[in-house]
Amino acid sequence: QMDGPLSGWRTLVTSGPTHEPIDPVRYIANRSSGKQGHAIAAALARLGAMVTLVSGPTAQPDPAGVTMVHVETARDMLAACQEALPVDVAVCAAAVADWRVKAMAGQKLKKDGGHLPTLELAENPDILATLSRPGRMRPALVVGFAAETEKVVGHARAKLARKGCDWIVANDVSPSSGTFGGASNTVHLLRGDTLEDWPPLSKEAVAERLAMAIADHLVSPAD
Ligand code: C5P
Repeated sequence: QMDGPLSGWRTLVTSGPTHEPIDPVRYIANRSSGKQGHAIAAALARLGAMVTLVSGPTAQPDPAGVTMVHVETARDMLAACQEALPVDVAVCAAAVADWRVKAMAGQKLKKDGGHLPTLELAENPDILATLSRPGRMRPALVVGFAAETEKVVGHARAKLARKGCDWIVANDVSPSSGTFGGASNTVHLLRGDTLEDWPPLSKEAVAERLAMAIADHLVSPAD
């Protein structure tokens, strides 16, 4: 552990997509590089925090100084997060698939002359909402992300209330923003009622600034 303002604090970060199997060779997933979540885990570790990074499949290297848990599905991700509790701070940056296939096929589905398979879906657990639920194990600070293509801040306010988290990092992922797979991110940090508009920053810089805001908050929670 590094020495820093977050020394002694326990943190949990989710990152990447989840993969929900259809059959042994196919899956449903969201688009996510894992860059932002991994950068946040790395930034928290650099400030001295103990970090558990629970990530779905990504091409990102494991960041230095974090406890890595690799998972595939949303249900595995939730279980890994619950196993990491108690933590002081949870940052949910993963792009979790909203649905899984209800019954994964045991064998590869075969193409059958124009007869199309029907996928019956089931809803996945909402990890952010679950971690935000009041209770003994609730982290003192729960941070979610909201990827929006329009009405970015309005949707983020609604999401904060619906999920029960404390902060939302709202990012503009409209095609013109270049956020997906790209290096840069334009975000707004919503802390309860307070809104901060951040300039376009690299994902590393967003991570750095968020980690610093978290450290400030833990030192003086009234802010
Ligand atoms: O509901 P939506 O996907 O738009 O919310 C995004 C936020 O919720 C992100 O912080 C994401 O990591 C989290 N989330 C989650 N579990 C889900 C869906 C979203 O933790 N099943």
